Amino acid sequence: MKKILVAHDGSKHSDKALKKAMEIALSFNASLTVLSVIPELYLTELSDLDRERITRALTEETKIAMEKIRSSLASRSVETKTIIRQGPPAEKILETAQKMKVDLVVVGSHGRHGARKFLLGSVSSKVVDYASCPVLVVK
Ligand SMILES: Nc1ncnc2c1ncn2[C@@H]1O[C@H](COP(=O)(O)OP(=O)(O)O)[C@@H](O)[C@H]1O
Ligand SMILES: [Mg+2]
Repeated sequence: MKKILVAHDGSKHSDKALKKAMEIALSFNASLTVLSVIPELYLTELSDLDRERITRALTEETKIAMEKIRSSLASRSVETKTIIRQGPPAEKILETAQKMKVDLVVVGSHGRHGARKFLLGSVSSKVVDYASCPVLVVK
């Protein structure tokens, strides 16, 4: 196990996933990449200007969150990096996993906007279904 990718959406669930991913990275002496995907907004009732404003705010929020994560992990003896992508979250997580040839993808069972009645969030369930490497779903 050399490369671990953890998907972070700012939720408590993804904090737990990050913690677990870090434990695994430490014990395997693997590198850890933290990925956050800025979703595109499909709400048709939004004007282009509003869409742009919201996307800009989301981007800013994500940058700050990832910078916090980066500095909180800096003291660990694990090679870490944070990356931000934009687009459909599950697709971007899968694409990154494939491009980086990671050995493990770690996701939370739920995210920010979850309906708790589902066993798995829609992003984590897509990642489990379509990933070509092992996936750890952290509850
Ligand atoms: N935009 C995103 N960027 C990175 N990871 C994400 C994103 N959205 C979801 N994830 C990952 O998927 C997990 C489950 O979230 P999700 O399937 O979206 O659940 P929910 O439907 O409850 O929001 C999160 O804990 C996180 O690990
Ligand atoms: Mg979600």
